[in-house]
Amino acid sequence: MSDARVEIIRAEGITKRFGALVAVDNVNYSLRENEVAGIIGSNGAGKTTLFNLLTGYYPPDQGTIRYKGEDVTRMTPQQRVARGLMRTFQLTATFDNLSVIDNLVLAFFRAHRKSSMLQLLLNTCKGQRNDPKILETLETFDLQHVRDREVKNLSLGEKRRLEIAMAILAEPKVLLLDEPLAGLSESEIQSVLNVLRQRVGRQTILIVEHKISHVQGFLQRLTVMHEGRVIADGGVEECLRHPEVRRSYWQIETTSEQDRTVVA
Ligand SMILES: Nc1ncnc2c1ncn2[C@@H]1O[C@H](COP(=O)(O)OP(=O)(O)O)[C@@H](O)[C@H]1O
Ligand SMILES: [Mg+2]
Repeated sequence: MSDARVEIIRAEGITKRFGALVAVDNVNYSLRENEVAGIIGSNGAGKTTLFNLLTGYYPPDQGTIRYKGEDVTRMTPQQRVARGLMRTFQLTATFDNLSVIDNLVLAFFRAHRKSSMLQLLLNTCKGQRNDPKILETLETFDLQHVRDREVKNLSLGEKRRLEIAMAILAEPKVLLLDEPLAGLSESEIQSVLNVLRQRVGRQTILIVEHKISHVQGFLQRLTVMHEGRVIADGGVEECLRHPEVRRSYWQIETTSEQDRTVVA
């Protein structure tokens, strides 16, 4: 791992409580430019809460969060998105009654122009359907065959690829994905990972996943959470060998026998 890469995110000593429960407990976390990092942990480990602290959905009770050195601890998600800092596919609403291509056009022009949504809907879509950037995105995300289909008629895998495509069109510094593979079939998982693989080296990506087996071959770095704390952080293999990770691993990979054998 090259330490020369610019640090994009640095969270120091962040804690988030819900009543008596400490969901995120004094966590330090940093991400470097173009790093492809994952956070895993059993249900309730605090992954989504940490994610929500990084996106600004909640302010932490303690600690600070910096982006490229700037203190953003008290900034809202919108302020962070507006600065081009980050994007999560959950914040990217799709329009179910519009076609795939028109959703891409809207995402692109919303991010790059100041026009109102109404203006976009009335004027922009038709003219921009052949924009090279849009056509390239259709191809990268393997959505050409459904370009004119309304979003409500897409499969879950196609919809997830569209959501990630829309997030990426905004060219965020960091792409944050909380369980982007949830609910997808094995082949849909592979197709989503294939599109993410094309971003490696071009974008900082942070994926929160319940199951390591899905993302093991894809990540450059892994962080393992357990009961609100980070119990391991580093290379994937190194993390999985960590004694505390091995002890809680059965809770992390709960579903099938096949998944458990990955680190057996
Ligand atoms: N909004 C909330 N209010 C109360 N408790 C919460 C809230 N969000 C999460 N929690 C609790 O915080 C802990 C961590 O949850 P979460 O971050 O969602 O874990 P994970 O994403 O790793 O499954 C859990 O015990 C959960 O019940
Ligand atoms: Mg979660």
